[in-house]
Amino acid sequence: MENQKKVFIIYHSGYGHTKVQAEAVLSGANSVDGVDAELIDAKEAAGNLDRIDQADAIIFGSPTYMGTISAEFKSFMDASSSKWMEQSWKNKIAGGFTNSSSQSGDKTGTLQALSVFAAQHGMIWVGLDLPPGNNSSQGSEENLNRMGASLGAMAQSLADQGPEITPPDADQKTAHYYGARVAQAALRWAA
Ligand SMILES: Cc1cc2nc3c(=O)[nH]c(=O)nc-3n(C[C@H](O)[C@H](O)[C@H](O)COP(=O)(O)O)c2cc1C
Repeated sequence: MENQKKVFIIYHSGYGHTKVQAEAVLSGANSVDGVDAELIDAKEAAGNLDRIDQADAIIFGSPTYMGTISAEFKSFMDASSSKWMEQSWKNKIAGGFTNSSSQSGDKTGTLQALSVFAAQHGMIWVGLDLPPGNNSSQGSEENLNRMGASLGAMAQSLADQGPEITPPDADQKTAHYYGARVAQAALRWAA
């Protein structure tokens, strides 16, 4: 479609759980009319940085490893320094998501790293506008944004369950919602 907005979801997933979250972000972004979204593995993105220049929005996703982004995602970030020098991604819309096994797991550290990274590139960060779920006696594990994040989308995958079981439906729906939100922001910003 002419004038379609391009959204890239650049992610790393060591064991497949963050990939499930990334796919939910993708389906949310692609649910928005006028948006074409695509998943790219962080290693592949690092080797094809010029392709990323086409994006109207980039959503970054990493598992939380040791309280921050994974080493593999950091490799992509460091590779992108050539784009930082040209400020090629300046004024593109940005967002981020993360997944870890603990309820907190220090996931905020990962979203902070991703948002600082986006700011270094001169990008426009989009937070998660969903109210926190499961934070009152009326709440449940089924609530969207049950992790209670604002900076981006969070998911929790229990450590002894595979990606065919976890992250749970509520976290996938949260990721879907967030993908749509960032895509809508791209449409408005690049109008
Ligand atoms: C090296 C390493 C470090 C981890 N550090 C954390 C952590 O800081 N907090 C946490 O809650 N989970 C931590 N985990 C668990 C992962 O975040 C969790 O298993 C996640 O689902 C992995 O996502 P992936 O399957 O996409 O790699 C760690 C796992 C690994 C392998």
